[in-house]
Formats: sequence, C-alpha cells, structure tokens
Amino acid sequence: MSPQQAALPGQIGRGPDPEIVAERRSRGAGGRSAKPLENVDFWKNGRSGRIRTCDPCVPNAVLYRAEPHSDKKAAYSVGFGAPQAAGMRNFVPVKTGLETLILPAGAAGAEAAARTLAAGGLVAFPTETVYGLGADAANAAAIAHLYAAKGRPAFNPLIAHVADIAAARRIGRFDARALKLAEAFWPGPLTLVVPKTEGCPVADLATAGLDTVAIRIPAHPVAEAILRAFGGAVVAPSANISGHVSPTLAAHVESDLSGRIDLIVDGGPVTVGVESTIVGCFDAPMLLRPGGLSRERIEAVLGAPLARPTVEAESDDSQPLAPGMLASHYAPRAHVRLRAQDVAPGEALLAFGSERLPGVDAAVAVMNLSPTGDLDEAAANLFGYLRSLDAKSPRAIAVMAIPEEGLGEAINDRLRRAAVAR
Ligand code: TXA
Ligand code: MG
Repeated sequence: MSPQQAALPGQIGRGPDPEIVAERRSRGAGGRSAKPLENVDFWKNGRSGRIRTCDPCVPNAVLYRAEPHSDKKAAYSVGFGAPQAAGMRNFVPVKTGLETLILPAGAAGAEAAARTLAAGGLVAFPTETVYGLGADAANAAAIAHLYAAKGRPAFNPLIAHVADIAAARRIGRFDARALKLAEAFWPGPLTLVVPKTEGCPVADLATAGLDTVAIRIPAHPVAEAILRAFGGAVVAPSANISGHVSPTLAAHVESDLSGRIDLIVDGGPVTVGVESTIVGCFDAPMLLRPGGLSRERIEAVLGAPLARPTVEAESDDSQPLAPGMLASHYAPRAHVRLRAQDVAPGEALLAFGSERLPGVDAAVAVMNLSPTGDLDEAAANLFGYLRSLDAKSPRAIAVMAIPEEGLGEAINDRLRRAAVAR
C-alpha cells in the first residue's frame, strides 16, 4: 500500500467517486476527537468536491482537497485546520456545508426560490401561520434532505402547499364537505387531509406512505408568489429544528437552520403565529390539530361539530394520526409551568390579560401575549415570546391561564406540548 493510500486522519474519501467514509475533527483548536459524519452527500463539481451535510458542526469546517499524487486520485479531508498528514500536499481549501442565502421578499426572491426548489434545494419562506421550510413535493431526494435538515422523525408526514384549488385537486380527492371547507377558508390557515388522487405527484416520502395527503393554500403574498413561480406543490413543515419552537420571523429560521438550507426569503413577521388547523376529511370530519383557524368557524361552515381523534390515536406515538399531536413537540429549553397563579423566584412570566400575579416584580423577564386578552394577538406573539423568554435562561417559564376558546384552543395545545417534561 502506498503512503497515499494509507488511511489519513480526517480523510473522507478519495478518487473520482469518493466513498463517504468520514471522520470529523471536533470544533475548536487542536480538537482531536473524531466522530463519524452522517448524512453526507457528495457532488462532483469538475475536479473539486463539495460536501453537503446536515451535521451542524461541518458548515464551519473546511474541506481540503489534495492534488492528485502518483495514483491520480485526489484525497479529501474535512477539518478545522490543514491536515498534517504526510504524503498529501497542495491542499486546496474548498467551502463545505451550505451557505444559506437570505433574500428580501419580492420578485427576485420569488424567482430565486423557484429556481432553488426546482434544483432540489431547500427554501424557507413566510406563510401567514409560521415560516415553512419548502422542498419540491415531487422530489424525494429533496424531501430526504429536508427531513435531515430539520432532524425530523421520518414518520411525520408533510403538508403540500399549492397556489390554488385546481392545483389542490390534482393532488387530493375532495368530497363535497372538503370542497366546502376549501372554498370557505382557502387561502388561509386550514390544512385538509384528503385521499390522494391516482398518480398523485407528491412523493411517498412526504406522505410517510399514507394514502392520504395534507394540503393547504397559504394566505401570504410571498408564499403565493413562490408557489406560482415554482408551479408545482411544495411540501413545507415549520422551518425549525424538530422539537424547537416554530419560527415567526426570518431571524428564527436563521438561528435554527443557517448552514443547513439553501435560501431564506425574509417576508417580515407572520400574522397568525400558530400553525394551520388540520382537519381530516374522513367519514366524520375530524379536528387533527387545532391551529390558526378556530374550531367554531369550521363547525359553522360544516353545520356540525368536528370529531376529535380518540385518546388512543392521540397517545400512540408509533402510529400517530397527525404526529403533530405527539405529546412533546414544541419545546423551549426551560421547563414550562402552566396556569400559573404566581411567579416563583428565578422564573420568567408569560402573561395574558391585565391581572398582576404575586411575585411578578421579581420575575427574570415578563412578556404579555395580549394585555387586552385578545386571543388572535396572543397566538401571533406565542412562539416569539417563548423564544425570547427562553433566551433569558429562566428556571422555568410560568404561563398564565388562557381561555380555551377561539385560537385559545391552539395556544393551549402548543403550551401543553411545551410543558411536557423531556
Ligand atoms: O401552518 C402550517 O401548517 C405550517 C406552515 C409552514 O404551512 N406547517 C406545518 O407543518 O405546521 P408541520 O410539518 O410542522 O405539521 C404538519 C402536520 C403534522 O402534524 C403531520 O403529522 C400532519 O400535518 N399531517 C401531514 N400529512 C398528514 C396526513 N396524511 N394525515 C394526517 N396528518 C398529516
Ligand atoms: Mg412544526
């Protein structure tokens, strides 16, 4: 074996089709501990290589490509300093990871988003509910990257976003009731789960192999412009790392996903602030997830109450009907204490309404979802305020009681998830 062929520290592959056998040096000067790289794809770009990886440490690393030696094969090494391996020379630093571009909303942003989606890339964009992380719904490889970028469990199916009802009907089969809801509330914060059409273009990976598909038309000019420019369906979960609080600002997306996705289109703060309401259009229409459209408004259009999934369906973590219902889903780092009637030392307070709780003056931080008790305003503020309070590293976040009506149902649902101890 020639010295060039011997295993080199940090080597990730060699030759025209490098194998992905990877090691990573830990971040920091002189870090020596090596950890296997996962989720690494490799694109050849002429003779130089590029690594695209969802490993959060790698975007700051440098990929070194060593010029071919006598065996005519290049060697690659990932590290935070030039590899010192004997037998390699002429190191060429190559950028690794993804550079996440951030563009303002507008015609150029929509065009860039459409091109990126068509090329299999990942684009975060605002909807009226929360920022979504979009991928071409028909491109299974792009969707695999999306799951990896979010660190999302692969069983969790995604919502297909489309620009109009005609596009929705190419994907899903709408019975009379589903159509009635679509016509009443689209574009808007409502997702309908319906049977797939024959030849439904949405990749099986996006629907987790189910024969139903979740569809919505977002009511946001930036989302609409992107969907129209792209022309196809775009699957988009909330643009956060799985388990984190959903993003309501481009800055939230950036702090979670920078280096993991291609593009963020910044359309400013969202208006609704909690995710869409999900209704399963089954024999009896069923509320699968409370969200930005209140149950009362849906029931008024249906002229009948929405069914609720059985407790068993909700608590079965392996086969969730709508896995957004899994108990722990939206979680700040701090413990969340619900229906607080006082503030304990070291706690932050997420307030609602005008009442002043005992202990509030000693709170680490106080944010009021809506001093006037307006539930729509509270929903719009919920995720951003949870992030802000969490950033103060309180012992816990105490949350005042919020009425279970209108958007209060969705707010309480998200707060209960945030409160599940992990
Ligand atoms: O407001 C929203 O809905 C945002 C924005 C970006 O549109 N999206 C969002 O996506 O919240 P995500 O992936 O975080 O939540 C989608 C939910 C999950 O709970 C998933 O289990 C459920 O939709 N879902 C998707 N397809 C389903 C299906 N075929 N049957 C039942 N539930 C489904
Ligand atoms: Mg989500």
